[in-house]
Amino acid sequence: MSILHFPSDFTWGVATSAQQIEGGWDADGRGESIWDRFAARPGNIEDGSRPHPACDHYHLWRRDLELMEWLGVSAYRFSTSWSRVMPTGRGRPNAAGLDFYERLVDALLAAGITPFLTLNHWDLPQALEARGGWPARETCAAFVAYADAVATRLGDRVRHWVTHNEPWCVATLGYAEGAHAPGGRDPQQGLRAAHHLLLSHGQAAVALRQRVPAAQVGIVLNVSPGRPATNAEADRAAVRQFDGLFHRWYLDPLVYGRYPADAIADRIRWGHLPAEGLTFVADGDLERMCVPLDFLGINCYSGTLIAAGPDGRPRAVPAAPREELTEMGWEVCPEALTAALERMWRDYDLPALYVTENGAAFADPPPVAGRIADPRRVAYLREHLIAAHRAIARGVPLRGYFAWSLLDNFEWGHGYTKRFGLFGVNSTTGARIPKASADWYRDVVTAGAVNDATEP
Ligand code: FCB
Repeated sequence: MSILHFPSDFTWGVATSAQQIEGGWDADGRGESIWDRFAARPGNIEDGSRPHPACDHYHLWRRDLELMEWLGVSAYRFSTSWSRVMPTGRGRPNAAGLDFYERLVDALLAAGITPFLTLNHWDLPQALEARGGWPARETCAAFVAYADAVATRLGDRVRHWVTHNEPWCVATLGYAEGAHAPGGRDPQQGLRAAHHLLLSHGQAAVALRQRVPAAQVGIVLNVSPGRPATNAEADRAAVRQFDGLFHRWYLDPLVYGRYPADAIADRIRWGHLPAEGLTFVADGDLERMCVPLDFLGINCYSGTLIAAGPDGRPRAVPAAPREELTEMGWEVCPEALTAALERMWRDYDLPALYVTENGAAFADPPPVAGRIADPRRVAYLREHLIAAHRAIARGVPLRGYFAWSLLDNFEWGHGYTKRFGLFGVNSTTGARIPKASADWYRDVVTAGAVNDATEP
């Protein structure tokens, strides 16, 4: 057994997002988001639930701040709700919506907790969706205006800014595969959406830096290293294809200002793009999306075992028996986190990396004497922090780690059925219930170190 120490200035955090915890869906002038609309359509959410009241964080946020203080974290990653700040996505900001985030930020700072603010964690205002949503180019200008409104109010206090959370999910799950809001099922629209997310990232980064000269601006991508199911050439080719559509489609434009040629060819073959290719790219777009990043955030939960599908496309295959997977069906694979961090550093030469989300959904037992025993989550977090430490030891500039999530919350299409929290939430009383993982994470944060033992 040994104690693995993290750098003394390492950022220890927890993460949430507005739509998943806030509730208060019509409070103080908030407008409708695409997730409010999507969840209202029967069949879209596994348990038929809505993202409100969620954790009612809009009203209970002071209590949640106390949880963070108790944990001792040095940073909190949250998102602002675009529909709260601009109820129809455009025009004059809603002062009451900004007031809410101002109160939160001021209280965080007073508690010595650094805010990491994400502008787009998927909850596009429904009024903008009605005008075409992310596949429409004009959404870029609306996003920049929204970013500017938030920065105008909070830029003197918030230094760390994330433009978008996981653009792959928005583009693919939201516009190509129909699993997420707004429920689109057209791969070409998905790629248009991806383009406008990347473009608006670059444009918003410029606006943020103008408004907040000391801003640290980054983006958060979901990362899941692929490995071939067998050593067959077809499976190895499928891993390359998966990497192209999942990682390089985003990273190459952001860092190098170009879409990957092999992945463009794949997309044309699969009918995701017309034969002419990237018809939606206008002159100057690639330069605009490729602005220097102060940091890249990666959300890494798992690796992906890939096989060539019968249609010649890459297909994820289960990596372990059901009972060894998390409740999301994701394999527990800490090596994937080390590999992802090393790869980002090696191939993209980024100045700083953060693990902006990592955590696990398990079916927790009911509380006993006001506490929830979750040994599998403790083991998961421990193994992944050891994996993160390994990357640091190999030279990766990993600056911080955010556990997903502070609270059990609205897990998108899964409703409230998947629990990632360090704290449970009683859906009737709203009470926050500590889990063993909260105690454990508190010890880690206090020590700045993780105990390299195999058992929790
Ligand atoms: C990520 C999302 C986050 C949460 C976790 C489990 O893809 O960014 O909101 O749903 O997965």
